[in-house]
Amino acid sequence: MSAASLRLAAAEASAGLLRCPPAEVKEAGPGNLAGVVWRQWRTERALAARGIEFRSADPAQVEAAYAAMTAEEFNAVNGRQAWANWRTIPASLDGLLPDEPVRALDLGCGTGRSTAVLAYCLPDGSTVTGIEFAVPLVEVARGREYPNRSGRCTVRFAAGSVCGPLTNADGETIADGSIDCVNSSGLLGHHLAGDDLQACLNEVARVLTANGVAALDPGPGLSSATLKRAMAERGFQFVRRTRSNPLDRCGQAVFIKQASEGA
Ligand SMILES: C[S@@+](CC[C@H](N)C(=O)[O-])C[C@H]1O[C@@H](n2cnc3c(N)ncnc32)[C@H](O)[C@@H]1O
Repeated sequence: MSAASLRLAAAEASAGLLRCPPAEVKEAGPGNLAGVVWRQWRTERALAARGIEFRSADPAQVEAAYAAMTAEEFNAVNGRQAWANWRTIPASLDGLLPDEPVRALDLGCGTGRSTAVLAYCLPDGSTVTGIEFAVPLVEVARGREYPNRSGRCTVRFAAGSVCGPLTNADGETIADGSIDCVNSSGLLGHHLAGDDLQACLNEVARVLTANGVAALDPGPGLSSATLKRAMAERGFQFVRRTRSNPLDRCGQAVFIKQASEGA
């Protein structure tokens, strides 16, 4: 097959699918990684001096630590994550969702910086719900703008845990099979373990529709191999591993929910 026919075949195969090439999307996010790293380091030192320790898998400690930060402090300590989100999330979603309005969740959304990347990438008319248990961060997230590159998404926030029945912004339990895409950035691999992690993955499996996409973050506390096994047990097919840069040890692992037999 010639190069031209290969290009044509690739274009035909991706017709009707959402395209969000990371090289284009990252231009809308933060640059200057050195400045981001410097602000993060300086702020982490200041927080440690005040006894605020957020690197934990104890939910009560994590919630209290994040709730005790100002929005500026949260954004500084979350700076590298936010920089990475603009590269990783588009790489995770590119070519996997239909190019029509979708329903998405952003688990552990903090001040809405990963939500902003989702809202920017998803098709015009999509709805995105960020879920976060540190209430002060939810309030900051509600106050932001969420531009979309091709139109407008509806973005709302729910204050609550991702380790029990997931709720929408009105406090209602999200229905089984009603979501097309679940994203987590800086959450599973940093803050969830044991029963909490299992409960969160059960919820991801419950709310996603057949062929729905889960872009989930491995990290220091959760290897990508363990995450892959846990998702395979829940009926998901692994699609790809994405990273913001070759040195990124976290990034995301992307899965598709298989249609159940007979569905
Ligand atoms: C590293 S921050 C990432 C924030 C955001 N996803 C981003 O990429 O900018 C992790 C967030 O997860 C939240 N979080 C941790 N455990 C949670 C839980 N069990 N339920 C809801 N939110 C949680 C924390 O409060 C924090 O805001």
